[in-house]
Amino acid sequence: MQIIDRLEIERQNHFVEQIRLDHRSQNAGDNPVIRYSIRTYGCQLNENDSEKLAGQLHQMGFLPAETLSDANLIILNTCSVRENADNRLFGNLGRLKQQKKDNPDLLIAICGCMMKQSAHVERIKHSYPFVNLVFGPQDIHKLPEMLYTCLYHQKKLYSVGDQDTLAEGLPILRSRKFRALVSIMYGCNNYCTYCIVPYTRGRERSRQPEEVLAEVRAAVADGYQEVMLLGQNVNSYGKDLENRSDRPADFARLLAAVAETGIYRIRFMTSHPKDISNRLLETIARYKNIESHLHLPIQSGSNRILERMNRHYSREQFIDIVQRARALRPGLTISTDIIVGFPGEQEDDFAQTLDLMNIVRFDSAFTFQYSQRSGTPAAKMPGRIPEAVMSERFRRLLELQNRHSLESNQAMIGRKVEVLIEGPSQTDAAILSGRTACNKLINFRIPDLNMLPEPYRLNNDQPNGRALEGHLAKVHLCRAKTFSIEGEMEMLLL
Ligand code: 5AD
Ligand code: SF4
Repeated sequence: MQIIDRLEIERQNHFVEQIRLDHRSQNAGDNPVIRYSIRTYGCQLNENDSEKLAGQLHQMGFLPAETLSDANLIILNTCSVRENADNRLFGNLGRLKQQKKDNPDLLIAICGCMMKQSAHVERIKHSYPFVNLVFGPQDIHKLPEMLYTCLYHQKKLYSVGDQDTLAEGLPILRSRKFRALVSIMYGCNNYCTYCIVPYTRGRERSRQPEEVLAEVRAAVADGYQEVMLLGQNVNSYGKDLENRSDRPADFARLLAAVAETGIYRIRFMTSHPKDISNRLLETIARYKNIESHLHLPIQSGSNRILERMNRHYSREQFIDIVQRARALRPGLTISTDIIVGFPGEQEDDFAQTLDLMNIVRFDSAFTFQYSQRSGTPAAKMPGRIPEAVMSERFRRLLELQNRHSLESNQAMIGRKVEVLIEGPSQTDAAILSGRTACNKLINFRIPDLNMLPEPYRLNNDQPNGRALEGHLAKVHLCRAKTFSIEGEMEMLLL
């Protein structure tokens, strides 16, 4: 592992300064020379990486573009967990080709997990030669230097490092006002047989607890109500750190220390069931500012398939964890990830998955059709499931989960809950969206706009959803839908 120390960040700052000076000298009035747009695919870890890219771009004096076509620097931060993510990148690159023809000065950069697969980098080299810069998830801290090279020396740079890095002290421009994403570790050691992540994000490496806590405290000082602690498997946090009794170097202790900062709400993901400890469940039960929700991917309900997936737990152990967690923290919701159509999945294995869902009754689930990832052990396993069988199973899985999700939402009706506002709803600016401590998505109306102080109202008699982002509201829950609950605001809390 290579630890990127403050000296390296200072070295990068030299390039930041060079670019900034040059940028300023060319800058006519308020019109910056470079306006950027970052497109992020995939998970919150990628979103967090994009926030660090944006932080560095701001340091260099660049500003975000209003639209993609206004940008003269476009960064695509890719994901390679499933095949459709790959396809989206190449679809977008096809469209960008024309934009580059119209504006030859446009800089196009591609980063993220896909760039750790040489086949994709080769394809970009040969079929999309107009791309200027390619780098991997481990190279994010080098953006100033790489950009400097592209701007002043060579137009094209393919620079995908193969070392596992851990960079501290990068500037960050958070994309949301209500939630601070805080990566606590990088990489994954689990090698689930279907998954590409250990090959793209490298071995597990944990940040020092002091660094994590300092970032959380800074977020609290900046007014953030929520932190989301991120890692591919947060439960193995600290396994690679020196074990000392005076500091929180395992996940349960880190979580408790974050809770002690007094932040309003703490979320975390993802928890691998094999590493859930009693101490962790007790910590979740003890601190009311830790979310009342556990994301616990089961992947399959069949022991035979779990073994082929290399998951290291059985359905019985999973059910036991769920029961213990619910007993320790009443009202805890549980979400999961499920894959259908893993190689060799028989109808009976799939029936076991449905059966487990009926036992556990997940409050929500992300459901996926198996996607073959070359280089993973599952890609070489016999027993590929035909497309038609896979989609038929997927349909049945979704139908059952949707029923459970709706029932879970129905059980909340009539309650009054605290909602952390995330902004206006996607479909109607008069409606606000937010989440409860148990991660339910709530869309709510404000029965009388006089309930809102002046700055939170727009001229056209609508709530100012953007200004309300990060505020808390007490909401009466009225109507359950499959993926959300509708409610009415009783009062604004803060
Ligand atoms: N095919 C389908 N789903 C996958 N996931 C990871 N790899 C694959 C794959 N090859 C799913 C898992 C994981 C989630 C983030 O993505 O369910 O928990
Ligand atoms: Fe992939 Fe398994 Fe690691 Fe999750 S725990 S990132 S599914 S290898």
